[in-house]
Amino acid sequence: MTSPKILSAEYSLSAHRADQCPPAGLPEVAFLGRSNVGKSTLINTLLGRKKLVRTSSHPGCTRALNFFLINQRWYFVDLPGFGYAAVSKELKAGWGRLVLDYLGGRESLAAVVFLQDGRRQPGDEELFLWEFLLEQGRKVIPVLTKADKLKQGERSRQLKLAAGALTPFGVDPADFIWFSAPNLEGKDRLWDRMLACLGEP
Ligand code: GTP
Ligand code: MG
Repeated sequence: MTSPKILSAEYSLSAHRADQCPPAGLPEVAFLGRSNVGKSTLINTLLGRKKLVRTSSHPGCTRALNFFLINQRWYFVDLPGFGYAAVSKELKAGWGRLVLDYLGGRESLAAVVFLQDGRRQPGDEELFLWEFLLEQGRKVIPVLTKADKLKQGERSRQLKLAAGALTPFGVDPADFIWFSAPNLEGKDRLWDRMLACLGEP
């Protein structure tokens, strides 16, 4: 299990509407999860870049679909987070339309990395999105973030609860990847799963 060499990683564009996405062609991976779960941080960690993707301790920082071109070969798509209470109803409706259109309709979407804070349980939004993604036949890679914040004993308890909530969707507890940005835990394992979905040998 190793991470590939990152020869290039560059910001490509931000889409505020589905028709602003790059022309479908290169396979892509999208990163989905509640606001503040660590999507942007995880992307930076996967790429070994500190500041390619803007991160923030203020939830709701990422508002558009942000495309990054990696090794001239794949796109990574940083999705806006959901479940941020302070965004207005209209914005929430906007989030839903933009992200669900993308997740449902995007031809070149090879996999969705679904992030969940390791200390929390899947809420209604997560369950809705899991169901939606599996109905659409998407490949979903479940990741539990901020692993560094949990003690070993808490982890097995949290994993049991998180996986238990997703059992109706046929998610196997063994599929979950614990991820921590500060100590790179889970980085190689996640890359392996993503590369398999991207059709890399
Ligand atoms: P939105 O763009 O608002 O949806 O948030 P996001 O999911 O992109 O989260 P972001 O990467 O901006 O991280 C949110 C906060 O969590 C930041 O303060 C990060 O430093 C922190 N964080 C992210 N990953 C980790 C991790 O693995 N461990 C710890 N301890 N903190 C993390
Ligand atoms: Mg973000």
